[in-house]
Amino acid sequence: MEIRRSLSHHSGPRRSPSEVLRRMAGYVTPHTRPEDPVRELEERVAALLGKPRALFFPSGTMAQQVALRVHAERTGRWTFAAHPQTHLQVWENQGYSAVHGLRLHPAGDRHELMTLDDLKAVGEPLAAVVVELPQRDIGGLLPSFEDLAAQAKWARESGAAVHCDGARLWEAQTGYDATFAEIAALFDTVYVSLYKALEGVRGAVLAGDDETIAQAAVWRRRLGGAVVDAWPLAVAALVGMDEVLPRMAEFTAHAQALAAAINADGFAHTTPQVPATPLFHVHLPLSREDAQRAAAHLLQETGIRLLLYARSNPDPRRCSFEVSVGISGLEFTPGEVVELIKGLPSRV
Ligand SMILES: Cc1ncc(COP(=O)(O)O)c(C=O)c1O
Repeated sequence: MEIRRSLSHHSGPRRSPSEVLRRMAGYVTPHTRPEDPVRELEERVAALLGKPRALFFPSGTMAQQVALRVHAERTGRWTFAAHPQTHLQVWENQGYSAVHGLRLHPAGDRHELMTLDDLKAVGEPLAAVVVELPQRDIGGLLPSFEDLAAQAKWARESGAAVHCDGARLWEAQTGYDATFAEIAALFDTVYVSLYKALEGVRGAVLAGDDETIAQAAVWRRRLGGAVVDAWPLAVAALVGMDEVLPRMAEFTAHAQALAAAINADGFAHTTPQVPATPLFHVHLPLSREDAQRAAAHLLQETGIRLLLYARSNPDPRRCSFEVSVGISGLEFTPGEVVELIKGLPSRV
């Protein structure tokens, strides 16, 4: 099925290898050595986040497990606290436990942001507190900077490290009146993704102090993640840092315009009502099955992919889907998105 336009992918180019290669070509000269792009990427991310060192990983899944493993070995504690819908729990088959023997203590409500009181209620010594910015599976809600700072302070005072799941930190920064370095300063370790908003091919970077990153490098090798020739992934990410990173505020503004139109129309509504980042959820008065069938028909008939998948709801007559505005999302006007959503029942 040819996807001509998509509201559920950041952009088209990532799905086209020839387009990816065309954009990467200008970054490699006859003098480029295989190790150069990875080093440049690590240095740029470390500088942007204001951390002494950063390390490339083939995936965020590996980078975060390694960060938690290092924090556990350092503190001698094997439990970490995180939101009940943390990516580590929901999408990674509990690798933290299966591979590293770590335990998750879920903190707070499944559908709300984690709070300082939720952390205080944990009641057992923690190796780390993990904060996902924004919290993807609840619609990209973003804690206030003050709440974040209070949680980080509490964690440090209780002897735990503070780790940022920054898969979408590039987008989250637009929701704060703070620089990347000011946000990252709240955390001991920060993971960022190279392929979501940045439109790279794959990969992740973990940033932190020298000692932590040196230990992380050992675990990266143990897990088979010390990919010597990772330069194509690094080059694709460098393209993204130059071309896409400066556009994050534009994506958030467009997400806000789309959400405002959806909410004004009233057939569906969004959470959050006003997105703080380019990510939000649209809640539909349709069952999950009907929404998926209607979206499949829409794609068949028009080449427009409105949603990747519909999310279930405790009320089986309702469901929701995620919108993540990137270059592709900018192609959709608010009025068009409203009409596409309202037209779903007629396509079931
Ligand atoms: C919030 C969050 N954390 C971590 C990851 C893991 O990243 P990777 O796919 O590189 O393993 C993802 C991937 O979607 C994510 O959304």
